[in-house]
Amino acid sequence: MGAKLIAVLDTFNSFGVVVFYVGYDTFKVIGGNSPMSGTTTIVIFGASGDLTRRKLIPALLNLYCKGRLPEPWRIVGVSRTPYSDDEYRTQLEESMKELAPEKYSAEDWELFASKVSYYPGDLGDLDDYKALDSQLSEIEKANGGQANRVYYLSLAPRLYEITVHNLGRSGMVDENHGWRRVVIEKPFGHDLPSARALNQAVYQDLKESQIYRIDHYLGKETVQNILVFRFANSLFEPIWNRNYIHHVQITAAEMIDVGHRAGYYDGVGVVRDMVQNHMLQLLSLVAMEPPDSFEANALRNEKVKIFHSIRPIDPAEVAQHTVRGQYRGYLDAEGVDPHSQTATFAGIRLYIDNWRWQGVPFFLRSGKALADKTTEIGILFKRPPHVMFPLPAGTLIRANRLSICVQPDEGIHISFQAKEPDTTADMRTVAMNFQYADSFGAMSIPDAYERLLLDILKGDPSLFTRGDAIELAWGLVDNILEGWQLESAPPLKIYEPGTWGPEASDKLIQHDGYNWTLGCQEL
Ligand code: BG6
Repeated sequence: MGAKLIAVLDTFNSFGVVVFYVGYDTFKVIGGNSPMSGTTTIVIFGASGDLTRRKLIPALLNLYCKGRLPEPWRIVGVSRTPYSDDEYRTQLEESMKELAPEKYSAEDWELFASKVSYYPGDLGDLDDYKALDSQLSEIEKANGGQANRVYYLSLAPRLYEITVHNLGRSGMVDENHGWRRVVIEKPFGHDLPSARALNQAVYQDLKESQIYRIDHYLGKETVQNILVFRFANSLFEPIWNRNYIHHVQITAAEMIDVGHRAGYYDGVGVVRDMVQNHMLQLLSLVAMEPPDSFEANALRNEKVKIFHSIRPIDPAEVAQHTVRGQYRGYLDAEGVDPHSQTATFAGIRLYIDNWRWQGVPFFLRSGKALADKTTEIGILFKRPPHVMFPLPAGTLIRANRLSICVQPDEGIHISFQAKEPDTTADMRTVAMNFQYADSFGAMSIPDAYERLLLDILKGDPSLFTRGDAIELAWGLVDNILEGWQLESAPPLKIYEPGTWGPEASDKLIQHDGYNWTLGCQEL
């Protein structure tokens, strides 16, 4: 490829390296101890699975087109089915056309696909790993230099342990000739004991620094912006505490129902699927103290402190702090146990026992088959202490609200009161709006997997969950799930699809005249 200078400047926060991308698909590192030098091979275990087709390949193709994959690179898909390289490429191409047509062009695909190959193998068979290792080494030797590898476990969770173990036994995670990073998808465990056991199992073969536990919410642009919003502006942080904030509400609502995922979802439910990972991660970013630097361990230490400070819900008291629901029709979905008690909706009130947040409730709600698809964080401020305006007795002035709209309609909105023109003191709620599309352009937000894959290649684990954080988060949700098994559990409320879940969820939050609000759609 030619030396067309596209001059993209990128800074690597954990390495202090400055990188210039030169040309369309050539890559050069100037200065610093490069985390990306040498051949890079991305080995995808679970090569023909849904995640690979829907997310990984489109994200990798996009990174390639932006010139952001470190040259020379290769992708090797591994799974059981005996495809040839060409058959595998064709299959991926068909998926691209179907699932991500906006990212597909025949010309780019041809160049990209020429670096994709396939290796049929049995994950339980050590010999297959050894043979794969030899094949990878051949390619790497031909290129010379360091041989860096990402092993992406896009697999059913029951295969994580055996795959890591066989990678270890075959010597494939030794870092003598280049770095080795292993990406593990969620769910990482099913509860605290299984997450702890999985951590222990993978630590037999891997160092923590080699493990990248994915939570795709952390790759979302708007989620990463929470820290910039809080700590790169001096306007908000002074009021980001119990003195000014009445409560925090986090909604992750989906319109889709369980669809064809009952095999995974039934018996897992919303708390394991959404709360243990995505929602607690959002909460930790809203609540954490400022880390002393923008460096992975500093960030992760602050998150862990928040998880330590969340007051565990006593299982005997879950009925006071949680609501659980199931949408009408869930039991009829294909693959769902007709007597299933699996919750497809949860409302949860948590408290954080530390100086900043004492007494401030954090309300979380998430569910399937709800009225809208929206993920947002609402910071609800206290009302003014005294009403000096000539309003009818008992009038409550609406509280200020800051809404962080994670998706869709990514943005941040602040609502406040304004005097209606030509009245004495009538007031109306108005808003100051920041919309990503307006400020950065409609196409400014990359898919979460692009950011995460790039960070894996750079060796920056900031956006990945450390082993201790995973275990703490499981500990918190295990208490809720244990309480839901007791006689004192809140009843499983059936809600109509297309609503905002059970009424009990409104009651959970209603106090001092506050309610669930959706600041991304309304004032
Ligand atoms: C996944 C859950 O982690 O997140 C799914 O397993 C859920 O059940 C999905 O639908 C939601 O992700 P997003 O990015 O669409 O909000």
